[in-house]
Amino acid sequence: MGGNTYGRFFKITTWGESHGKALGVVIDGCPPGVIISEEEINKELSLRKPKIDELSTSRKEEDSCNILSGAFEGKTLGTPISIMVNNRDVDSSSYEKIKDVFRPGHADYTYFKKYGLYDHRGGGRASGRETVARVAAGAVARKVLKNEIKGFELFSFTKEIGGIGISKIDHNSLKREKIVSDRLWCPDKKISEQMAQQILKAKYQGESVGGIVEIVAKNVPIGLGEPVFDKLEADLGKGLLSIGAVKGVEFGGGFNLSKLFGSESNDQMNSNGFVTNRTGGIVGGISNGEDIVIRVAVKPIPSISKEQKTIDNKGNERSIKIEGRHDPCAIPRINPVCEAMVAITILDHLLMQKSIGGIR
Ligand SMILES: Cc1cc2nc3c(=O)[nH]c(=O)nc-3n(C[C@H](O)[C@H](O)[C@H](O)COP(=O)(O)O)c2cc1C
Repeated sequence: MGGNTYGRFFKITTWGESHGKALGVVIDGCPPGVIISEEEINKELSLRKPKIDELSTSRKEEDSCNILSGAFEGKTLGTPISIMVNNRDVDSSSYEKIKDVFRPGHADYTYFKKYGLYDHRGGGRASGRETVARVAAGAVARKVLKNEIKGFELFSFTKEIGGIGISKIDHNSLKREKIVSDRLWCPDKKISEQMAQQILKAKYQGESVGGIVEIVAKNVPIGLGEPVFDKLEADLGKGLLSIGAVKGVEFGGGFNLSKLFGSESNDQMNSNGFVTNRTGGIVGGISNGEDIVIRVAVKPIPSISKEQKTIDNKGNERSIKIEGRHDPCAIPRINPVCEAMVAITILDHLLMQKSIGGIR
């Protein structure tokens, strides 16, 4: 199966299925001499794992990684880094009963039609569990970016869940440590509580909800992005849209810019730089030094206990109620995954820019 590799200069290949023995990533192109440890990577992985509360799956994804190669005495060697995470709390029993039935909103039907077979246990390769490998690679990318870029910051927060959201927020007031201390990664406590109620309401109706995650990268140097097909926006879009459940990506003012006049949408300049940042830090596919601001739309989790209509692999009409341990909402578990894909993409472009003359 193609399509498991992402990036050109900082290249990641993820492998493994949800209910297989393990999942992992091979990173090629990481500079030598970067201090990394399993503990640091595990810290990032712990942000992706389900919380022990009613807003999350009861699956215990106590992920702990093994660095198999590419590091010696705590430093990267410049050789391929292989990171593996064992699958521990695997229970495939609930999938046995529905193994011939296509779950609505899941990749069962498309995988079956494409390959003629698929691993029905937990979605196999299409599972959200695949993203553990991305977060491990993102932890390494984040480390390199912190070394390479003075003042580099990358964080995300939950902007909306099930239609309940934050309308306006000052990015300068946000710090990652504070955001992640909220169980839904929402910087507004009152709204976080309303979001939690919305998730629970859906859960008790056998439903699930989606939402919007906003990602911000600060102090990204000017000049990253390769016109025309490898624009920074195009690559960030690809990286984020490759995450399961992500159905839309917008930058800066995004879709709302289409409603404005040119003078309202343009970021005018004075001798101090840009007066506004409606473009989201990228113009002509190249970073302009402003904050990179991205929002992703996350669809509701497809596995719901409410009865739905579908077909089986013989084409017979069936109905399905999905049992098992599922998140009622992919947010906030998806937030560190979004950050990881942004870190990997920015680092890929930074290394590319260095190869053609560096940073001005
Ligand atoms: C971090 C994360 C966790 C997820 N958890 C679940 C889950 O518990 N149950 C589920 O049905 N889908 C879950 N998903 C979503 C599915 O993986 C995804 O919607 C499905 O594979 C179909 O792919 P698509 O939404 O990209 O079309 C999760 C996704 C992510 C990124």
